[in-house]
Amino acid sequence: MLEISEDGRTWVLSGPASSYAVHVTDRDELLNLHWGPRIGLADAEALAVRPLPEYWPFESPLDGREEYPVEGGPRFVRPALSVRTAERRGTEWLFEGHDAEDGELRLRFRDGGLAVTLHYRMPSSTDVVERWVTLDNRGPAVELLRADSATWTLPDRDAWRLSQLHGRWGAESRLTRSGLTHGEKVIGSRRGHTSHQHLPWVALDTDATEERGEVYGCALGWSGSWRIAVAQLPDARVQITGGAGWDDSGLLTLGAGESYTTPVFAGLWSDGGFGGASRAWHAYQRAHVIPDANRDRPVLFNSWEATEFDISEVQQRALAERAAAMGVELFVVDDGWFGARTSDRAGLGDWSPNPDRFPGGLKPLADHVHGLGMQFGIWVEPEMVNPDSDLYRAHPDWVQYQPGRKRTEFRNQLVLNLAREDVREYLWEQLDGLLSRAPVDYVKWDFNRCFTDAGWPDDPYPQRLWVDHVHGLYALLDRLRAAHPGVAFESCSGGGGRIDLGVLSRTDQVWTSDNTDPLDRLAIQHGFSQIHPARVMAAWVTDSPNAMLNQRASSLRFRFVSAMAGVLGVGGDLTRWTREELAEAREWVGLYKGIRPVVQRGDQYRLRPPRGGLSAVQYVLGDETVVLAWLQAQRYGEPVPALRLRALDPTASYECLETGEVHRGAVLLHHGLRVGLRGDLDAAVVRLKRK
Ligand code: GLA
Repeated sequence: MLEISEDGRTWVLSGPASSYAVHVTDRDELLNLHWGPRIGLADAEALAVRPLPEYWPFESPLDGREEYPVEGGPRFVRPALSVRTAERRGTEWLFEGHDAEDGELRLRFRDGGLAVTLHYRMPSSTDVVERWVTLDNRGPAVELLRADSATWTLPDRDAWRLSQLHGRWGAESRLTRSGLTHGEKVIGSRRGHTSHQHLPWVALDTDATEERGEVYGCALGWSGSWRIAVAQLPDARVQITGGAGWDDSGLLTLGAGESYTTPVFAGLWSDGGFGGASRAWHAYQRAHVIPDANRDRPVLFNSWEATEFDISEVQQRALAERAAAMGVELFVVDDGWFGARTSDRAGLGDWSPNPDRFPGGLKPLADHVHGLGMQFGIWVEPEMVNPDSDLYRAHPDWVQYQPGRKRTEFRNQLVLNLAREDVREYLWEQLDGLLSRAPVDYVKWDFNRCFTDAGWPDDPYPQRLWVDHVHGLYALLDRLRAAHPGVAFESCSGGGGRIDLGVLSRTDQVWTSDNTDPLDRLAIQHGFSQIHPARVMAAWVTDSPNAMLNQRASSLRFRFVSAMAGVLGVGGDLTRWTREELAEAREWVGLYKGIRPVVQRGDQYRLRPPRGGLSAVQYVLGDETVVLAWLQAQRYGEPVPALRLRALDPTASYECLETGEVHRGAVLLHHGLRVGLRGDLDAAVVRLKRK
């Protein structure tokens, strides 16, 4: 809902529980009035006439209050917008007016030839505010040194705490919380992709717990380099500024008639604690971001950990037969099926099936997989090339490079320059051809190195490659999705190196981490769930001991229950699993299919975080509840605590579908569910149905 004051200078956007109010002063300063619980227009108007505090001349009354601080004028905060022309630097805008259409509010400002429009939207039934900016240049060339998507202003409080998700390869999305101090905390990526190091999300609170208290969150929808700066200003006010690009050295130049649209930076206020905030983010993504989110994702098998590069059609058929017998619904051939790709040294860029390995192309295997009743999927890494490839030999200038400098290789590969039209067209032809020649249902789209020598010698403004690569990727995905609407896409980047709201709006799921150790995964999944729903979180059961990471041995039970917290997959070498293991796995896959709607579409409650002892997650959908519980280590023979469940009706009874036992809602809520776990690395699934 949008309310607008009579003079057209105060606006209030409201969702079911929250409001966001802004005001343009008579000096054309755009101030944030309110972000928090619901208010009405009269409240916002009362806030608009409250005088700004008076400061000595060493502080600016605008700092910490503006919606989009520009460079120049009476402000000392980090600018969200920094531009320069041949004549001058900075911005001094005039308010031109507003438009409101289909729930979207546009506030229009102008500085000479540069039109700056701030966009606001609260998608229906959410408390998420989507913000972005468009810059239209109708004058002489303007260099955009920095153009953030939004600045978020928090209310005055005594002590803010910052939550963030940090990591590295094999250890993504781990949650940390720390008190804010004066100055700035800056997170981001200067790697050309979203990165394993930080997810583009922050949350701020003062005294929230898992299920109580106010939480402010912001998440950026951008899959390239990015930056979010959380600043605690001299008067302790807090502002969060974020957008595309790591530094301020220039995004792109806008010639006359050109425009730039920033990615969306979404903000959410919740008073339901960290859990309530996560559920609101999940609901928003399921309703407004993730394509076709009401369709549950199938159980997949992926051959990577089983075979690595040593693959053949015969061996894939054998794996497919075992996977099908287990109840798997989607069979995915990973790396190694194309070109001369028998190791990571060669073949990337040459997207036709390796004739020694797949003499008849992929179609015979795809048909066999379909015949077994499964969907068929393939792995690709389109944005990359091995120097040892036909593509690179033909087009050495199609990669990002700086003339006269070494071309830095990681994993023996270079990054293609997707800002180039010819490169995008080549990839389109290759991928469209692949999807047309074999009946492919699913594409795992990988990205296995960061940008290093991000140069484009032919372009007068080579920095634009950082932005245009991402736009090129998005355009390619959008075009492929439109041409092949039945194909699902997974975003992978050496595990979780490209997970953000931007890529999630055009992919169906993400590969959470190359770390498939089921214990490490609990912490990774705990962090992931702060912002993203289980519906997109792919998780595989692999072999024990875990060969990829740490040699940790764990039971099939523990591995399955860990992976059942997201989109279940199997990634072990099934030719080496015993008959008993295959039979047990079949049971688990069957159980997962039974709980899948609740896990993938339900509301998620983190009952206990993974901190060494008992941890658990509960999912609720309608009358059904699923609890997944894991015991890392039982100490001193102490009994495992009961799990106090959430979101049940205290007056109702709930039947356990495993044991037939009937529990009273009030008892489960206040005294808890006993899960009877023992020893080390034990796990349980409990299904409850309201009677
Ligand atoms: C990345 C992915 C893996 C696998 C390999 C293949 O590391 O994260 O799952 O696909 O590439 O080379």
